[in-house]
Parts: sequence; C-alpha cells; structure tokens
Amino acid sequence: MGMPSDMTGKAALVTGAGGGLGQATAVALARAGADVCIVDIKADGLAQTAALVETSGRQAVVHIADLGVAENCAACVTAAVDRLGRLDALCNVAGILRLANSHDMPLADWNLVLAVNLTAPFLLSQAAIPHLLKTNGAIVNVASLAAHIGEAYAAAYCASKAGLVQMTKSMAMEFLKQPIRINAISPGGMATPIGASFVPPAEADAELLARFRPIRGLVEVADMAEMIAYLASDAARGFHGAIIQMDNGITAG
Ligand SMILES: NC(=O)c1ccc[n+]([C@@H]2O[C@H](COP(=O)([O-])OP(=O)(O)OC[C@H]3O[C@@H](n4cnc5c(N)ncnc54)[C@H](O)[C@@H]3O)[C@@H](O)[C@H]2O)c1
Repeated sequence: MGMPSDMTGKAALVTGAGGGLGQATAVALARAGADVCIVDIKADGLAQTAALVETSGRQAVVHIADLGVAENCAACVTAAVDRLGRLDALCNVAGILRLANSHDMPLADWNLVLAVNLTAPFLLSQAAIPHLLKTNGAIVNVASLAAHIGEAYAAAYCASKAGLVQMTKSMAMEFLKQPIRINAISPGGMATPIGASFVPPAEADAELLARFRPIRGLVEVADMAEMIAYLASDAARGFHGAIIQMDNGITAG
C-alpha cells in the first residue's frame, strides 16, 4: 500500500505478534524504523516474528504472556520500556473468536473473549499511557467489522469489539488536550489463523452466516498492518478517536 509511516528511533509494543496481523504489524513497524516488543501466548510464533523484525535491521524484544490473565498485562509494558528505553506506540492486536449459540455459550468462554479482546487492551493502555505521554505516542486498537454489525452466534466477540471501539473513543476524549493519539481499526475478513476458530454451532443457519460474507473479497493482511503502522506514526497526526473501517465494504450497508 505504501503508507508514509516513519518510526525511526521509536519503540513499539505489539500484542498478538506471534502470527497473523500482529506479526505483519511488527514487521511493518520494523520496516518503518521502530524497535518492537512483541507479545503473544505462542513462543514459536514469536521466534519467527523476532527473526523477521531483525531481518529489517531492528531490535525485537520477545515477551511471552497470556493476556487472558489480567496480572500479565502491565508486565508487557514494563518489559518493553526496560529493554527499549521508551515507548512510542502500543498496538493492541491480540484477539480471539468463539462462536456459539448464545443460550449455550459457557461463561468461561464469554469471560475469556472479553478478557483477551477488551480487558487486556484496557490494562495495557493503562500501563502504557504514562510512557506515551512522555513521547507523544499513540495507541492503535484492532477492533473488527463485528463491532459495527451484529454477527449471528458471535455475541461475545461482537460485544468485546464494540466495547473496544467505545473504549477507544472514550480514551480519545479523555486525552483530547494532550498530544497522544488513540485510534482503532476495524478489519474485515483477512486470511489469518483466526479463521480456524470460525466454527459455527451445529445446525447454524447458513442464511444468517451469509450476512457477513466478504462479497468483495478478503482484505490483505499486509495492507492492514501498514495502516496500523501509519496510525502509530506521526504522519497520522490528524487521527484521534478515529475508527477506520477497513473491511472491503462489508459494513457499508
Ligand atoms: N482475520 C480476520 O478476519 C479478522 C477480522 C476482524 C478482526 N480481526 C482481529 O484482528 C486481530 C488479529 O487477529 P488475526 O486475524 O491476526 O488472528 P490470529 O489468530 O492469527 O492472531 C491473534 C494472535 O493473538 C494471540 N493470542 C490469542 N490469545 C492470546 C492470549 N490469551 N494472550 C496472548 N496472545 C494471544 C494468538 O496467539 C495469535 O497470535 C484480532 O484482534 C482479531 O479479532 C481479525
């Protein structure tokens, strides 16, 4: 896509960086000049991402953490700042999807989706903001088209992503008078490993599932990652409290 992102001399933290969009985001930030603290629950994926970041000539700090556990979140920010000396961007990319009939969904699944998709970005932001205030940095949250339309069998996922959108806007208002920037992107379908979690309940209604089919095709993961890197960079200075719906038209109507 060729977005004008320059992160030279900056440090970023990317969650979900063990694969998919998080890995592509870490690489896009490194290519833009940033050193990157990469966080995921998957050690093998992080090792691969670290190699890609280093190939771009930037430093990778690997931090393995389960973001479903609240106590682990602030430690990610501490690791980034301790090892990289500063923090200019927090990219909350990690996310999980669980589909179920709402009346059958185990409470544990509901709680896990909310913990990883909504509570972790809040706790990471909470820990990162004091550092971002020092660097005039940015937060980029990854929501979903599911924040903007109701998707059948995805009540927890939709609620978590809609919550993330409103959290983004609320924090943007809170920091309207400071130079830090807080934005979100809402991707449409991309070809990433999360697709394996798209397992509708038995006897799901195909007509309802078709309502959020990507008629115009999937969005390129690399394009989405470049958009995140752009929003993290100073080039995006006009964006604050924005929710970028980059979904190939699915939520247009
Ligand atoms: N792929 C799509 O079609 C799509 C569409 C809309 C939004 N999204 C969002 O994009 C983001 C990235 O997803 P993706 O498509 O790259 O999928 P993915 O499954 O490849 O990436 C998600 C990453 O988060 C990590 N993760 C999951 N649970 C974790 C935990 N408890 N602690 C730490 N890390 C954890 C996974 O290990 C994985 O590397 C997610 O927030 C997802 O909801 C994806």
